[in-house]
Order: sequence, then C-alpha cells, then structure tokens
Amino acid sequence: MAGSTVPSKVQESPEGDDVARRLLGSAAQLAYDPATEVDWDTPLDKDFHGASPEWCSLYGTAYWGELTEAQRKELTRQEAASVASTGIWFEMILQQMVLRDIYMKNPAGAEFQWALTEIAEECRHSIMFARGAQKLGAPHYRPRRAVMELGRAFKTLAFGEAAYAAILVAEEVLDVMQRDWMRDERVVPFVRTINNIHVVEESRHMKFARDETLKRLEGAGWARRQINAFVVAVASYFIVTSMVNPKVYRRAGLDRKRALAAAKANEHHKSMMRSSCSGLMDFLASARLLTKPALAFYKRANLI
Ligand SMILES: [Fe+2]
Ligand SMILES: [Fe+2]
Repeated sequence: MAGSTVPSKVQESPEGDDVARRLLGSAAQLAYDPATEVDWDTPLDKDFHGASPEWCSLYGTAYWGELTEAQRKELTRQEAASVASTGIWFEMILQQMVLRDIYMKNPAGAEFQWALTEIAEECRHSIMFARGAQKLGAPHYRPRRAVMELGRAFKTLAFGEAAYAAILVAEEVLDVMQRDWMRDERVVPFVRTINNIHVVEESRHMKFARDETLKRLEGAGWARRQINAFVVAVASYFIVTSMVNPKVYRRAGLDRKRALAAAKANEHHKSMMRSSCSGLMDFLASARLLTKPALAFYKRANLI
C-alpha cells in the first residue's frame, strides 16, 4: 500500500472543501501501488477467465453456446483487456480535464491537493491497465478514429458539470463490472487484484465527481442544464459503446461478423448494463440531467 499522512495545514486551510479534505484523508489511509501489489510475474494461466462470463458481450447468445470453454475464456480475457484500454483512454481525458479545472486554484487548498491526488491515482491506474492488457495477451485496442477525435475535443473544451458528470458516468459503469470481477473465482487472480484496487480508489473519485457535478449545477439556468445534459449523454454513449472493441472477436478466433451481430442483439448484455446503471440514472435524474434528448442517448447505449 502506498499511503502517507495529510499535512495538518491542509486540513485547516480556509479554502479547504469538506469533501476534498475527507478524500485526502481517505487516500492517505488506503491507497495502492499496483507496481508491487499486482502479481505481474506469474505467467498467464489460460484456465481462467479475464472477466465474469456473464458480462461477456456474447454470453447467453446461440453463438456463445457453440464456443468451447477455451474460446470463451480467451474472449473474456480479450474483452477485459479492451475494457482496460478504454479505461486508459478515458483516464487520459479526465486527468487533463481535472488539471485544467484546478489551473487557477490555490495550491494550499484541499480541493487543489485532492485533485492532484486523484490524478496521481489515475496515472497509476492507467499504467496498471496497460500492463494488465499486455499480460492478457491483447493488442493495442482503442476506440475508432472518429471517437478518439471527439474525445480530443471533449478533453480540450469540457468544463464544470459537463466534465464531472461525464467522469462520473465512466467511473460508475466500470465500477459495477469490476465489483463482480474482483469477487469471481473464475477470473484470473491478477485481474481480480487490479479490479479490487480500482474499485477501492474509484469510490473516492465517484464521491468527488458527484459532489462537483451538484456544486457546479447550483444556479445553472434552463439552457445550460439542457446543453450540458446532452453533452454528458453523448459522451456516455461513446464511452459505453467503445468498451468492447470489435477486434476482440477475431483475436479470440471467432467469426467477427457473426459475433458482432450476435452481440448487437444480445438482450442479456443489455439488461446487465441497464440494471447496473440504475443508481447512476437515479443520480442524473436527481441532478436534473436526464432531459428528453439526453434520455434518448442513454436508451441507445442501453443504460436505461
Ligand atoms: Fe481509474
Ligand atoms: Fe477515477
């Protein structure tokens, strides 16, 4: 575990925000160094899955029924690696957004210091995901070019509630899957450790993102709420639809065209996504970010 104490001056800082101060305390008590916590040395045991099979994009389809156990395991390993790669992509976006957000803030304040602590955690996560995907035998998966360019625009321009609500969506969607995978004995042990580390540290980030979203929305007028609700929904759509890269199927030795069609029509997977996002949707509704146009995108992404 990598932890340190919070200097008492930070806690007394007049600019210190309560939530940020508490999160700094939590990070000082419980943080991990994936470089030493994760078992990177033991060779990959192909008897294990990379993710809980129930989360696989093909689980429950006729095609899934035809696959051998070895093919299923290879597919969940590739999908887990793809989710990790999408995680890296989004963590790069959010690190830049948070860094831009604190540019003018007082370095003595708890909010400034918490933000840098969160960035440090994300930085360690991205390296951990990169090594994890590598160990799972995956190539460099990344969202398609147009989505990468949209992400480039988003990380450069998004601010306030649009930035923090999008961060929250990405973190929540990952959180629910990873909670299942970290407890699942069918999942390869080093991936379970990675998920455990991520779940623990992301619970702080989600708390902060929720708090910031509500704070930034205070006093927001109708038009601003409409625009940002829409931007967040579109961002969520691209994040969620980029989780499983279409290349995973061929990599696992499957017929790409058939697998893509089966995944697209997979009602089991859609209902997993919907039920796991119910808490998030409740939050967005309470923040009045579930406007009609936004709702259409969440439905398209099968989040509601
Ligand atoms: Fe993370
Ligand atoms: Fe995070």
